[in-house]
Amino acid sequence: MGAKERNLLTNAFDSNWIAPLGPHVDKFEYEMAEYLGVKHTAALSSGSSALHLALIIAGIKEGDKVLCPSLTFAATANAIMYQKAQPIFLDSNPDTWVVCFNALEKAIKKHKPKAFIPVDLYGQSCDYDAIMTLCNQHNVIVIEDAAEALGADYKDKKCGSFGEMGILSFNGNKIITTSGGGMLASNNEEHIKKAQFLSTQAREPLVHYEHKELGYNYRMSNLLAAVGRGQLEVIEDRVSARRSIFNRYEKAFSRIDGFTFMQKADYGKSNRWLTTLTVDEKITRISRTQIINALEKDDIEARPVWKPMHLQPYYKGYEYVMAVDEDVSKKLFYDGLCLPSGSSLSEIDQNRIIDIILNCVDE
Ligand SMILES: Cc1ncc(COP(=O)(O)O)c(C=O)c1O
Repeated sequence: MGAKERNLLTNAFDSNWIAPLGPHVDKFEYEMAEYLGVKHTAALSSGSSALHLALIIAGIKEGDKVLCPSLTFAATANAIMYQKAQPIFLDSNPDTWVVCFNALEKAIKKHKPKAFIPVDLYGQSCDYDAIMTLCNQHNVIVIEDAAEALGADYKDKKCGSFGEMGILSFNGNKIITTSGGGMLASNNEEHIKKAQFLSTQAREPLVHYEHKELGYNYRMSNLLAAVGRGQLEVIEDRVSARRSIFNRYEKAFSRIDGFTFMQKADYGKSNRWLTTLTVDEKITRISRTQIINALEKDDIEARPVWKPMHLQPYYKGYEYVMAVDEDVSKKLFYDGLCLPSGSSLSEIDQNRIIDIILNCVDE
């Protein structure tokens, strides 16, 4: 957090517009819509609530089939369960790690799903031209999960602006944060009006409290929107900090056979939310878990990549579609490592991390 966020937050505080709404919410929505290049947005309490509302607005109901990649954070799949719909998980592309297009095509033909949630994994965009063409042909509604990808591009457009609706997260670990928060974006005004309505308990515009449908307490507060506006002003700095952290890791480890960074897709520009790579133990003779443990000894936190949904006990029994006979997302989970990547990570700290890892590999 910096001075811009502090000033806007103080302004919200002094105005006594605290919650649920207020002028900063309207302005944050407007500014984010401008940034994304979409017509409308709704500021919400989390990325998870944005996903949930997107599915409701898309008309997803009990038993409907909804596709999403297996390699994602649980929030993507959980939203499908909130609607009692049926998730079908898709394998990943071995190079870019985002959803495998062939698995998507296979699943659409076999299952005729109602919706698909592509995830811009670790800040890397999916291939939206190909996805939209295929999904439009088969009447599949696309909801872009860009929770990790604010600031990333697909061709010359911002992630979060694709499909029928897109969602963002401003959770504490995201590239910009409001401590907790999220947003729904769309060019369809009706969708966003509906989200604003449902997220304030579906209260009818009457003097008394009248409710004709089920609502939720999912709106963002004015205080947090003020913080979000300050963060949005510095987004380009945050993105370039993450990208230079990635570049330094990549350069430092370029001589190590067996380290493979998540490959940049040629159609877009990742925000490098997290620097991720796989460690081929057969070549390095050291596992990614040993690297995590070596960092841990020095009080540095690194993590495995997301554990795919089809390997999660809660999602046991749900279908998983692979393009070929090789389970790519499982392999990425076993070998994948997320390195410390916070925008405020100093060069000194990054050097410590690099030295520890180089020592591990050289031992
Ligand atoms: C891919 C993905 N989708 C959805 C979410 C949910 O966002 P939130 O934590 O704001 O609910 C997250 C992160 O937290 C995420 O990484």
